[in-house]
Parts: sequence; structure tokens; C-alpha cells
Amino acid sequence: MSGSSASSAAKNVVILILVSIVALVAFGVLVAKLASSGSGVDLGKTTMTEEAVAARIQPVGKVKIVEGGPPGSRNGKAVYEAICISCHGTGMAGSPKFGDASAWGPRIAKGYETLWGHAIKGFNAMPAKGGDPELTDDEVKRAVAFMANAGGAKFEEPKVAGAAAGGAVDPATKGKEIWEGTCQACHGTGAAGAPKLGDKAAWAPRLKGGADAAIAIAIKGLNAMPPKGGYAGSDEEFKAAALYMINQSK
Ligand code: HEC
Ligand code: HEC
Repeated sequence: MSGSSASSAAKNVVILILVSIVALVAFGVLVAKLASSGSGVDLGKTTMTEEAVAARIQPVGKVKIVEGGPPGSRNGKAVYEAICISCHGTGMAGSPKFGDASAWGPRIAKGYETLWGHAIKGFNAMPAKGGDPELTDDEVKRAVAFMANAGGAKFEEPKVAGAAAGGAVDPATKGKEIWEGTCQACHGTGAAGAPKLGDKAAWAPRLKGGADAAIAIAIKGLNAMPPKGGYAGSDEEFKAAALYMINQSK
């Protein structure tokens, strides 16, 4: 093989590649034209029903994962950035755009409760909870406050701890908190004959009738154990603290 025929072979390969690229591009344009003329749905038009819009865009929110803490504890910014931004970031489907005071003004005038009510239940093309059923109501409320406040409102996000706003509290976290604040004084040390946390031998006889029975006794008080251990909160919260202790003691 001489050098010149090798280089003309190389030239042929280059030409072949160029021709293929041109053919592919032409084919692509043709397909795109066919698809847009034949599908009957023109994305640029606003004639789709709101249901159709919702159905089309709903999955956008569904696949997102909200970062920034365990479920229930995420703040408005984290929820907005994971879920709501997919529509409200751009004003998609007629949603009030983030930071657009003129779009948010009339919404804000409806009041915080109406707005979060709509955001939780859904409102026209706005899917319930932005399409993410995993969000807690408080998380949606926080995202509403976060968005509305960026549009000129002064709503207060429900506290992340949840208790003050009556939101869902993670019982394990709450139980530990109460135990450390109230029960530890006796049950951490065994003071006054209290069964210690983690002392299986001390707990076994008390748990023979089940944890619920032991908790019911402790709510009423037993000898040196004052009613609810002196805890002033609800029975529900006392129970969370008791379970925190019992679960580590059997
Ligand atoms: C799939 C798109 C989409 C997603 C995701 C979405 N929204 Fe919306 N949202 C809309 C549309 C569209 C409207 C306007 C509905 C209307 O006024 O008819 C709207 C309106 C709202 C309103 C105003 C309701 C009212 O009464 O005027 C609030 C509040 C709201 N959204 C909150 C949220 C929150 C919070 C999230 C995230 C958890 C979220 N949205 C996610 C599309 C979306
Ligand atoms: C002032 C000390 C004290 C505090 C504070 C206290 N306990 Fe106790 N607790 C005791 C003593 C003492 C006993 C054992 C009473 C007995 O058997 O005579 C006991 C027993 C119990 C029992 C077992 C009841 C049974 O049926 O045997 C449970 C459950 C319990 N406490 C839960 C709690 C929880 C939850 C808290 C905190 C919210 C708490 N206690 C705070 C002293 C305390």
C-alpha cells in the first residue's frame, strides 16, 4: 500500500462521515417536523384544560426528594427548592412566580390559611402538596410562607419542632427530649428506687403486663413515682418518654 492511496482512503472515510452527519441531521429535522405537526398538542397554546396541564406536569414533583432533614422537619426553603420550584420557579402553567410581587399580591390578600389550604388540597392546576404526598401539612405551610414572603407577605412559618403549631412530632425525638428533661433525674440514676433506663432485670417484672399497662400506672403515679413523673405535658407526650425508656430496657 503506497502512502498516497492510504491518504485517499482516509479522505474517503472523512467524506463518508460528513455525508452521514448531514443525513442524520436532515432525518432528525424531518422527524421533529412530523412529530410537531402530527401530535395535535401544541405546547405553545393555552387551550389545554387545567386537568390536562396538571396531569402533564404532576410527575415533575413526584420524583423529587426533599433534603434537609427527616420527614416533617424540613423548612419552607428546602421544600420549595425540592418541589415547588419546578412550577413556581418559572411561573409554569400559570402559577404565581417566585419573587413576583404583582403575581403574589392578590394571592396573599386571600390570607395565609386559604393559601395553605389550597396548597395542601390542590387548586386548579396546582396539584395537592405540589404533587408530593410525602410532605406533611406543616411542610407545605412552611413552603407557602416561604414563597409568599418572597412575594411581599409576612407570614410566619410553622415552627420546625412542630409542637407549638400542633404539627406532627416525631415521637422518638420528643420522647428522648422529655426523658432527658424530666425522667432522667430518677430513672437515669435509680434515685428513690426508680428502675434505671437499660436495666432489664429491674424492668422485666414491671413489663409483665405489657408496656401500656406500666405506662398507665406511671401516669397515675406509684409510690415514689409522682403522677407522670411530675411531667406537666400531655399523656401522649408522657407515653413517648416512657416508651423511649422502656424500648431500651427490655
Ligand atoms: C405542577 C406545578 C406546581 C407545583 C409543583 C406547585 N405548584 Fe403551586 N400552583 C401551581 C399553579 C398552576 C397555581 C395557580 C393555580 C390557580 O390559581 O389556578 C399554583 C398556585 C399556588 C398557590 C396559590 C393558591 C391560591 O389560592 O391562589 C400556592 C399557595 C401554591 N401554589 C403553593 C405551592 C407549594 C407550597 C408548592 C410546593 C409544595 C407548590 N405550590 C408546587 C402549580 C404548581
Ligand atoms: C421523682 C423521681 C421520678 C421521676 C422524675 C420519674 N419517675 Fe418514673 N418511677 C419512679 C419510681 C421511684 C418508680 C418505681 C415506683 C415503684 O415501683 O414503687 C417509677 C416507675 C416508673 C414506671 C414503671 C411503672 C410500673 O408499672 O412499675 C414508668 C413507666 C415510669 N416510672 C415512667 C416515668 C417517666 C416516663 C418519667 C418522666 C416523664 C418518670 N417516670 C419520671 C420515680 C420517678
